[in-house]
Amino acid sequence: MGKKIPLIPRRNTLANAFRFVKNPLPVLNEFVEEKGDIFAMYMGGFSKAIFTTDPEIVQYVMQKNNRNYRKSEIQTKMIAQFAGQGLLTSDGNYWLRQRRLIQPGFHKAKLAALSDIMLKVVQESCIDLDKLANSNHAFDLSVEMTKIAFQVVARSLFTTSVSNQELITLSDNIQEIQEYIVQRLRQPYLAPWFYLTGKSKRQFKISKESRAIILRIIQERRASGKSYNDLLDMLLGTRYEDTNEGMTDQQLLDESLILFVAGHETSANALAWAFYLLCKNPDSIEKIRNEYKEVVGNRKVEFSDFPKLKYTTQVIQETMRIYPPAWITDRLANEPDDIKGYHIPKDGMLAIYIYGLHHSKSYWKNPEDFIPERFEKENMKGKPSFAYMPFGGGPRLCIGNNFAMMEMQLVILELLKRYDFKLVANQKIEAMPYVTLQPKNGIQVDITKR
Ligand code: HEM
Repeated sequence: MGKKIPLIPRRNTLANAFRFVKNPLPVLNEFVEEKGDIFAMYMGGFSKAIFTTDPEIVQYVMQKNNRNYRKSEIQTKMIAQFAGQGLLTSDGNYWLRQRRLIQPGFHKAKLAALSDIMLKVVQESCIDLDKLANSNHAFDLSVEMTKIAFQVVARSLFTTSVSNQELITLSDNIQEIQEYIVQRLRQPYLAPWFYLTGKSKRQFKISKESRAIILRIIQERRASGKSYNDLLDMLLGTRYEDTNEGMTDQQLLDESLILFVAGHETSANALAWAFYLLCKNPDSIEKIRNEYKEVVGNRKVEFSDFPKLKYTTQVIQETMRIYPPAWITDRLANEPDDIKGYHIPKDGMLAIYIYGLHHSKSYWKNPEDFIPERFEKENMKGKPSFAYMPFGGGPRLCIGNNFAMMEMQLVILELLKRYDFKLVANQKIEAMPYVTLQPKNGIQVDITKR
């Protein structure tokens, strides 16, 4: 007989249902406080999920015994029906085959080639930001960071093979589909309503529209025979080890679309939160600027500089600890399992509450405070490795983690070089867990040119 997993009584779940729909974070945090690192909760109907903030359990599920766990249908069906079967949404043997094929495209040498594309995107974005700086009007950081992050993924994938109008369409469509998915997850009872009002049908329509744009780019690129050294070239050039054949257009399309979905909102939110925290901690801005002066000076920032920009890296790590863009993930048990004396039934769902891990008083001193130095090597000694997991862990670790770190460093450095940032006074900033953790009402700032 194993240990009993504390259950949140159904009446508590109901009593909290309204608050949960409004914002699940405070409710979940209360449950963690009350029940500890593992508890079960009804998720509607009779299905229960086991929530955990225990790094040992998380490591076991994500890494040590990962073969016994699969992703839930939220990722493999719900997101996949609009975004297709790409790395993020596939599972089992198909996933493994694709991961092996695509992984080399994210190796260091390839990223070095992408760093110049990224720098260009950031510099181009400054044209818009200059206008905002001159206008004396406040603006929402989340909106601007989303534009930059979208351009970064788009240009890294397709360089110049996609028009600005197409990019806007893609960006709007992906945003709308994500919002729809979140609503469906939070308020499943609205499904018939979405059906009746044609909202579901519209999602399929705009998903089709996005896929058509990407398919055209792929087909034109294949036909052109030109090389661009971007991610699409890499995806086109890879061959399966066993057959020595490349991906089909449909596979390329699915993988490209998934890179958009997985890779833009996450980075955009991390960046918005980073600037927010920096505004509140101006000493850190000075430290970043000094580090930049020391490491880079007046020349252009290069790929080999990134590992040397240690403090900047720590600021990004600390930002993602406090505001992890991927705030939760899940796994289902293929077969019954026992973890630390707890029994997990077949098909039992584990909700890995990343936000809770990152704010746990057991692993972080003053978890609500912004202290980038926590990430210095000596300060991290002895910490369980899964106490911090903004990019997940185990074989399904985010494939874009180094890409994202480089992107965030570039954006922060280039923007701090050019602008001073000031938060608009008296705004309420609330972290809201949609697909990613977003500032609910945005983050209003004023910028001035330095
Ligand atoms: C700050 C930025 C980012 C964060 C916080 C983040 C977070 C994550 C997390 C937590 C996972 C694992 C999910 C799970 O195992 O359930 C993941 C997977 C993934 N991410 Fe990221 N990500 C970021 C940026 C990116 C970028 C820039 C790209 C691509 C250009 C990307 C592509 C992917 C893909 C394809 C997967 C699925 C990998 C697989 O299952 O094999 N991500 N990401």
